[in-house]
Amino acid sequence: MTEIDSRPAREVAVSMVIVAVANQKGGVGKTTVAMQVGAELSRRHRVLVVDVDRQQSTVWWAENTRDRLPFDFAGSQHPKMLSRLRDLRAEYEFVLVDTPGSLEDTVVLETVLDAADYALVPVTPEPLAVDPTLRTLSRLIEPRRLRHGVLLNRIDPRVPHQLETWQRLLDAELGVPRLESHLRQYKVHAEAPVLGELVTSLRRNRRTEGTIADIACIARELEQLLSPALAGAW
Ligand SMILES: Nc1ncnc2c1ncn2[C@@H]1O[C@H](COP(=O)(O)OP(=O)(O)O)[C@@H](O)[C@H]1O
Ligand SMILES: [Mg+2]
Repeated sequence: MTEIDSRPAREVAVSMVIVAVANQKGGVGKTTVAMQVGAELSRRHRVLVVDVDRQQSTVWWAENTRDRLPFDFAGSQHPKMLSRLRDLRAEYEFVLVDTPGSLEDTVVLETVLDAADYALVPVTPEPLAVDPTLRTLSRLIEPRRLRHGVLLNRIDPRVPHQLETWQRLLDAELGVPRLESHLRQYKVHAEAPVLGELVTSLRRNRRTEGTIADIACIARELEQLLSPALAGAW
């Protein structure tokens, strides 16, 4: 993992959790979630974000943040490097892996899922996103008995009952596990990569407060799900 820029170690990590942010549907928010949740978790934990997507969206975003990137960052699609993610155990509490959204080329995604402890599966409230999401779950995630949770993203508070309708769909009709928290649709998310912004660098104001609150909820839920000892420590 030579690409990782080193930062001073704060303390020895007691446990490391690898979270694959995955959905074979493109445009559902994998990159957004990996970067923003990674930033939020870095307030309390040592975090590595890995970009294994050939499009390297996070690389571009990370470059735009210049010196304000609050976590370590690595870009690689090399299967050998990915299968060695576990070797980082002593260095990070959370490793978030941003994965490609493709139904065809699954080699890289499968290598990441083999190494992961949890799959975080963002989905947008669009009928067209349902099938590829279910396919990702049934073909790639469930056969590995990998813990996972679907995260509703781009919820529009102006659409009546949208959140409740989609929560019910996931819970009652599709029967897939989901996070309690969700991410609303905000312009801040769309602008963040080009402005090099992350929740950790946003000033709290009317434009940003919803984004900041959503990301904080998701990070706390992940901490509680995946690392209860750490969640209780702060
Ligand atoms: N909650 C949100 N609100 C507004 N825009 C969003 C949100 N989540 C994602 N986007 C935008 O949607 C597009 C796709 O998101 P991205 O994170 O790149 O998805 P993926 O990595 O799954 O392809 C990007 O332009 C991103 O900025
Ligand atoms: Mg992406």
